[in-house]
Amino acid sequence: TSESDKCWGECMDVAVEVACRAGKVVQEAVKHEKSVSTKSTPTDLVTEADQQVEELIISTLRDKFPSHRFIGEESSAAGEKCFLTDSPSWIIDPIDGTCNFVHSFPMVAVSIGFAVKKELEFGVIYHCFDGTLYTARKGHGAFCNGVRIQVSKEKDVSKALILTEIGAKRDPATLNIFSGNIMKLLSAPTHGVRIIGSSTLALCLIATGAAEAYYQYGLHCWDIAAAAVIIREAGGVVIDTSGGPLDLMSRRVVAAGTHEMANYIVQQLQPISYERDDSDPGVQK
Ligand code: IPD
Ligand code: CA
Ligand code: CA
Ligand code: CA
Repeated sequence: TSESDKCWGECMDVAVEVACRAGKVVQEAVKHEKSVSTKSTPTDLVTEADQQVEELIISTLRDKFPSHRFIGEESSAAGEKCFLTDSPSWIIDPIDGTCNFVHSFPMVAVSIGFAVKKELEFGVIYHCFDGTLYTARKGHGAFCNGVRIQVSKEKDVSKALILTEIGAKRDPATLNIFSGNIMKLLSAPTHGVRIIGSSTLALCLIATGAAEAYYQYGLHCWDIAAAAVIIREAGGVVIDTSGGPLDLMSRRVVAAGTHEMANYIVQQLQPISYERDDSDPGVQK
């Protein structure tokens, strides 16, 4: 209805405000010494800034929207279940690219997505190093700093630049499949494959047409929620690695400017399996 439409529009204004504020906190934190610890594996980093920024975002939003639900990477890590219900839900990655943040490698973002009845309504991504703001709302187009953006219309894979990311698993069997997938795409031949260390910013590069396709196994719902709206509103395709519809909790995605490009990637990939984000037994669906 137009009433809920207006309401989600107001939510989005708040999301933009809080993403920019959080992004500036990250921008400042980059200049200072970071307190780094590890989570599930020695390469799964977390810093005090990740936790502080998530706290800042969620407490600000909860204040304004007390009845909404919140899924945030760092709160989920603290044992909160990660499942999507029909309620208005905010899906938050306070710092996407923590490893980059630790190294001051300039690809770090704040990502805020919003879903109602399990449908993504809008997404906001703030690039903390250069202050670029990516925004999109369902049915209203995608923007970079307020300027309309469009995906690449390239259909020919031999002219494609492809982006991917390494998930959490680094065991030999996983790395074997991971590098096999890259080798296959390189020898296709495509123009190249890039890994920038931030799923959300890589996806924003698909939305602006800077690259033709993106795929990843092992990402989480907070890596893809905001970006999926941005890519779709920029005219692109976001699907499951099987070729079916995107499942936010499935830990895998293919995104591309065109269906042809997306389908090509789908056909090339050998899958890597990850436990779902909502795999908790007795999960509330
Ligand atoms: C990670 C980054 C990385 C990707 C991982 C993500 P984080 O997010 O986006 O590029 O390869 O799958 O988990 O932990 O820095 O928010
Ligand atoms: Ca993380
Ligand atoms: Ca992330
Ligand atoms: Ca993160």
